[in-house]
Amino acid sequence: MAAELEADGRHLIHMGIGEPDFTAPQVVIDAAAKAMADGRLQYTSALGVPALREAISTYYLEKFGLNVPASRIVVTAGASAALLLACAALVESGREVLMPDPCYPCNRHFVAAFEGTATLVASGPEDRFQLSDQMVHANWTNTTAGVLLASPSNPTGTSIEVGELTKIIASVKARGGFTIVDEIYQGLSYDAAPFSALSLDDDVVIINSFSKYFNMTGWRLGWLVVPERIVPALEKLAQNLFICASSVAQHAALACFLPEALEIYEARKAEFKRRRDYIVPALRSLGFGIPVTPDGAFYVYADCSRFTDDADAFAKQVLREAGVVIVPGLDFGPFTARTYVRFSYANSMENLQEAMARLKIFLPSQK
Ligand SMILES: Cc1ncc(COP(=O)(O)O)c(C=O)c1O
Repeated sequence: MAAELEADGRHLIHMGIGEPDFTAPQVVIDAAAKAMADGRLQYTSALGVPALREAISTYYLEKFGLNVPASRIVVTAGASAALLLACAALVESGREVLMPDPCYPCNRHFVAAFEGTATLVASGPEDRFQLSDQMVHANWTNTTAGVLLASPSNPTGTSIEVGELTKIIASVKARGGFTIVDEIYQGLSYDAAPFSALSLDDDVVIINSFSKYFNMTGWRLGWLVVPERIVPALEKLAQNLFICASSVAQHAALACFLPEALEIYEARKAEFKRRRDYIVPALRSLGFGIPVTPDGAFYVYADCSRFTDDADAFAKQVLREAGVVIVPGLDFGPFTARTYVRFSYANSMENLQEAMARLKIFLPSQK
């Protein structure tokens, strides 16, 4: 609908998009150009270019103080392929995977692709929209195979508390299940020190990506960290399903870890935090409910029930009448489908301010 309106000449402000408005730093682009000029364009190992696996391993050591050997790192075509491979390796036909509702929409489909069932567990602001240990206990059945979490989360921007995560990992392990933690928004946490669930347990399956913190969405590059014992299965799956991730992207991504690139990423992270600190109070003062202040990613999950009992229709009306693109809760599961909308602040401060001004004019007619 937004594309149609734009084709008709309407000026829209995009707060729907789930990707950084920043693109890869020049040093990364230069590394890609050099890789191409040097002819480094052929298939790589299914597990990824050894130098990149080593660079990711060093990143865990330097940023998180974690010892993650390169042999446990599998480079993939984005977090999407990482999630697909994890589900291919861990989900058997007829088994269930617990995940919070709301959560990233594709998770259900990755599980369904291997004939598993995603069990969506309704989670509200009291639990930061995340699974709790109590929910794991209450929903675990003899067909449950594991849990799939994301921290910080899409669409809520909220992280799971470390104490709760520790309990979940232990409970799941005691039941013989797996815990997958999607850390794609890991570098974008604004209120706490950088954290990985790997600091809690080496058996957790970690999903990560160059898409968000490293600003490389279209390059299609991500990674998994897995226990050593499942690397051979993942290698076979990756080889069969993808052959390898993009070789140019892999060579370019080595430059992400150079000091000058890391400096740019940290400056951009500070800019995201500045926007978060602007947009959360601005939306609250417009009448949206934001019961948990988002601590990461670039999303605000806002309760719009003061204005509507149909968030889907509301999002369409905001688009048509205010010219602001937002995403209805429906995309993220049934629980908050009618009451919440997601705002992405991956847009310039100037555009965010204009969006708030437009909403200020539009909203009074909805009360
Ligand atoms: C929580 C989460 N996981 C995974 C993905 C997929 O990311 P990519 O495949 O670009 O790494 C996204 C994209 O928005 C996401 O929000």
